[in-house]
Amino acid sequence: MSTFQAPKGTYDLLPPDSAAFLAVREAIAAPARRAGYGYVETPGFEHVELFARGVGESTDIVTKEMYAFSTKGGTELALRPEGTASVLRAALQANLHKAGNLPVKLWYSGSYYRYERPQAGRYRHFSQVGAEAIGAEDPVLDAELVILAVDAYRSLGLRDFRLLLNSLGDKECRPVYRAALQDFLRGLDLDDDTRKRIEINPLRVLDDKREAVQRQLADAPLIVDHLCEACKDYHEQVRELLTAAGVAYEDDPRLVRGLDYYTRTTFEFVHDALGSQSAVGGGGRYDGLSEMIGGPSLPSVGWALGVDRTVLALRAEGVELDLPAATDVYAVPLGEQARRTLFALVTELRRAGVAADFAFGGKGIKNAMKSADRSGARLAIVAGERDLAEGVVQVKDLASGEQGPVALAEVAETVKERLV
Ligand code: HAM
Repeated sequence: MSTFQAPKGTYDLLPPDSAAFLAVREAIAAPARRAGYGYVETPGFEHVELFARGVGESTDIVTKEMYAFSTKGGTELALRPEGTASVLRAALQANLHKAGNLPVKLWYSGSYYRYERPQAGRYRHFSQVGAEAIGAEDPVLDAELVILAVDAYRSLGLRDFRLLLNSLGDKECRPVYRAALQDFLRGLDLDDDTRKRIEINPLRVLDDKREAVQRQLADAPLIVDHLCEACKDYHEQVRELLTAAGVAYEDDPRLVRGLDYYTRTTFEFVHDALGSQSAVGGGGRYDGLSEMIGGPSLPSVGWALGVDRTVLALRAEGVELDLPAATDVYAVPLGEQARRTLFALVTELRRAGVAADFAFGGKGIKNAMKSADRSGARLAIVAGERDLAEGVVQVKDLASGEQGPVALAEVAETVKERLV
């Protein structure tokens, strides 16, 4: 063991488990790619002000959880706690919205950092795959994104997830609701910190997990009862489109999310087997974010799904992913000449698309055959000097133990046939 351990709240992804992680990333991205979303990659850190303005000065993410630092040159930066603000910044910087084809549809995949209290499913370094559609206000687009996320989960075989849906209103109706909520909250018996929150960010109080607070919130005014006609109509259309696509959802009038940029449609995917960190993904519409970070009006919508938690949810459901074998063929050379010949053969097989590995380090046959078994390969190719003199190698089926000679020139073809 080394003197060092991975920092608190982080973990290493190692084979064989890392294969499932990669497969989940790919499966989440696949529906978005098929729907015309292009890949975007932004830096792991940004100007701290981007997140302060975008995610919100009063959110936990910005006030407590950001890895912020100043560089030797005095620039204030932060490791990215989320992807939306960065992706929108990148799109604006490159003027993608001016290319005349709105919405700009982008997907991304990467590491995010939040200084949170670590627990099962909550890490300080975690992984998201996200999709953002920038510059269009259309309920069909909101529905498209939700459907893409649902299809991603379904393609992985995940079953026990629920979709919670809400609308947070727009700049017309939200302020009226906010004031009504503040009036209600000011009359409750709350601690000082929560009282402060009422003035800065009253919607977040609805999300307080404490029993004593929740009990007092039973009669709190709800945004659904304060939506303006335009928001009501928009939300109704999103709901109808989801139903038409066979997507089940639960209306959750208390769903507020932890980021301030949301307007109208908001949603979260939860998985009940995950305990308190049950959100496997979330997103919504953010019509004002572009202006908040100095851009033009660009109504947008998107989501990010947590890869770590999706892997945990799959595990909790006992879903076995159909992963490609790491190794199909394992070559065991006996002697110096065989080493060269079989290495050339392994290279040829790999070039032909077969996953092949080799007994390195001049292992004896017993050890090498053990490695072949451990590699998970279906076939072993064994050859000694006598085989090579006859122009053959022995191809062994590792499950049945059956073995027979195959002419060297025909190995690649034979192996490919036997692997299908
Ligand atoms: P978020 O809800 O903060 O939204 O994060 C999305 C997902 O990332 C969560 O549902 C969860 O699965 C995962 N996640 C968040 N924090 C952690 C953590 N500490 N450990 C493990 N997993 C975590 C956003 O980030 C928004 N940018 C989503 C969005 C995109 N909204 C519009 N567009």
